[in-house]
Amino acid sequence: MEQVTFPAARILAIETSCDETACAVLENGRVLLASTVASQMEVHARYGGVYPEVASRQHILAVVPVVEQTLAQAHLALADVDAIAVTRGPGLAGSLVVGMNLAKGLALGAGLPLVGVNHLEGHIYSAWVYHAGEVAPPEPQFPLLALLVSGGHTELNLMESHLTYKRLGATLDDAAGEAFDKVARLIGLGYPGGPLIQKAAEDGDAQRFKFPRAWLEGTFDFSFSGLKTAVLHEVRRLEAEGRPLPVADLAASFQAAVVDVLAAKTVRAAREFGAREILVAGGVSANRALRQALQSQQEFPVNIPSLSLCTDNAAMIAAAGYFRFVHGHVGPLDMDVLPTWPLS
Ligand code: KG4
Ligand code: ZN
Repeated sequence: MEQVTFPAARILAIETSCDETACAVLENGRVLLASTVASQMEVHARYGGVYPEVASRQHILAVVPVVEQTLAQAHLALADVDAIAVTRGPGLAGSLVVGMNLAKGLALGAGLPLVGVNHLEGHIYSAWVYHAGEVAPPEPQFPLLALLVSGGHTELNLMESHLTYKRLGATLDDAAGEAFDKVARLIGLGYPGGPLIQKAAEDGDAQRFKFPRAWLEGTFDFSFSGLKTAVLHEVRRLEAEGRPLPVADLAASFQAAVVDVLAAKTVRAAREFGAREILVAGGVSANRALRQALQSQQEFPVNIPSLSLCTDNAAMIAAAGYFRFVHGHVGPLDMDVLPTWPLS
């Protein structure tokens, strides 16, 4: 397929939608010059989840040093960038406003255009990013089928061109990441749930518990709340018997149930809608079992970002910001992107 050439532009992006304070500088929508992610995970771990008020205070402390560190890493000054991108939403209001205010201030002060970016669109665009110095991987090819699996969203989108999304299906209840987090708590693993379940599952028997798969035949929707309840019942049953919880087996069996449904429905949607490839994005795309399940099928090429780009970061915001910028979606301060998802 013919490649469209976009203009050269260097974007500095800021992301503060949840509990990561992040900044990145990206060239031409793909080449990552520098990226910093200051995680607040340890601060929130003692609360068993993200504590919004604490998150915004941590962003206030971290955001300026994170931007300075990123520019220093890239050996650039603000004058060397062409536009500033910032996460506009969805996310925690008190956290978003910290990044947005700094981005507005920097854009005003340096006379730069400001581009508002939707966080979910950012996750999808993480698939375009590669590190400076690496050989450029092939660009994602349209039409593509994007499985978006984050802490708050689980959905399948058909992308026929840049910045366009046809939502084919979504979760009817919990998001996949949310299910990982809740089940981790149920089986005593704590926060952050996804990585802890993955780790526990490594030593577990995925066949030991036959947890339900909600296929929701005839749709591309998902549902994870029944699975979560099934784990809860199993935990209660085992506890009533006074036996120690087989945490590894519970984790492995739960993870297998999530992965089976996500992988099978993604491939089915790609087939039905004639996608050229599958793209997976969002925090749950870091999950090894999900990556393996999708990469082991031969029918479609699969594009999954490297691990550091799966969870929240600013490189992905810079990438989405670049494509918005070159398509003319620029403020200056009146950012035209909605903080909700889907965009249309
Ligand atoms: O995309 P993300 O960093 O933040 C949101 O935009 O929500 O996703 C966070 C979610 C959390 O629910 C976390 O438990 C999950 O991604 N997650 C994982 C893994 N790493 C992060 N889930 C399963 N396996 C992982 N390795
Ligand atoms: Zn995210």
